[in-house]
Amino acid sequence: MYHETVLLAESIDYLEVKPGGIYVDATFGGGGHSRLILKKMGGKGRLFAFDQDEDAKRNTEQQEFSANPSFFFIHSNFRHLKRQLRSEGIRSGSVDGILADLGVSSFQFDTPERGFSYRFDAELDMRMNRQDGPTAAELLNQYDADALQRVFSELGEVRNSRTLAQAAVARRAKAPFRTTGDLLELCEKHLLGDRMRYFSQVFQALRMEVNDELGALEAFLYEALEMLNPEGRLAVITFHSLEDRMVKHFLKTGNVEGVPRKDFYGNIERPFDLLTKKPLEPGAEEIGRNTRARSAKLRAGIKKTAPEAKK
Ligand SMILES: C[S@@+](CC[C@H](N)C(=O)[O-])C[C@H]1O[C@@H](n2cnc3c(N)ncnc32)[C@H](O)[C@@H]1O
Repeated sequence: MYHETVLLAESIDYLEVKPGGIYVDATFGGGGHSRLILKKMGGKGRLFAFDQDEDAKRNTEQQEFSANPSFFFIHSNFRHLKRQLRSEGIRSGSVDGILADLGVSSFQFDTPERGFSYRFDAELDMRMNRQDGPTAAELLNQYDADALQRVFSELGEVRNSRTLAQAAVARRAKAPFRTTGDLLELCEKHLLGDRMRYFSQVFQALRMEVNDELGALEAFLYEALEMLNPEGRLAVITFHSLEDRMVKHFLKTGNVEGVPRKDFYGNIERPFDLLTKKPLEPGAEEIGRNTRARSAKLRAGIKKTAPEAKK
């Protein structure tokens, strides 16, 4: 199976899909969420599905997508949501629902040559879009020790990030990093605490940096708010605490820092009615079936109509 969809029914319920509406699945992957959205649309309206990965694009060749006139695939990073939708004739303020299910798919993770997993020895690539940007190996060979430390500590919460960053710089002076095995060897020498957890933290941190996942999410959130119509719905599934914090802040305040701001009329900006006061997490049954669901958090909101001037 390409990917077992996480929080499928729950996330689509929050979108409240109506036939004839305009919807966006920002992270098509294996198409699990898109399939259910299309079903609820009942052949009326339009679904724009984004994915920056060539392999995900191949999933659209399945009959249920390729033969569905409501389905449009956009092979792009979702950070360009607005530009891409506009080029399809979709105006700001006219989208009924937007969903994002962040991170990598099981297919990407389990394909050795993509270099996402420490379980296989392969080129240390980790790019979701293999046409764009430096690989994880290039990043490890080019960043200075301070930049590497920031990646390990901020994105991976690696406790000995300084030691690891300095060790990486010393290691590459002898031979540049090329494979997942090279990185694993470095981790083995410096690991703290649980072995697998340490590897996961380091690999996840690098993956998030290679794909600028926080930067893409930030750009996406602002553009999603602009593209939604009043009463339009946004639902986001995250797998990392920094991502969840950004989404939480954004839904509450309209900015990823979570700073309350006043609009032109002096009203505190609250662009969404929250559908989730606390994030919704998968139940034990789903986690038992799909370990990847373990760290998933779903948050959703309904875009408010524009506030009026204070009387
Ligand atoms: C967790 S999977 C989505 C799985 C999908 N919901 C399903 O049910 O099959 C995430 C997908 O989003 C894509 N992706 C992640 N970040 C992206 C971005 N910034 N722009 C476009 N696609 C992205 C990945 O390539 C991957 O295929």
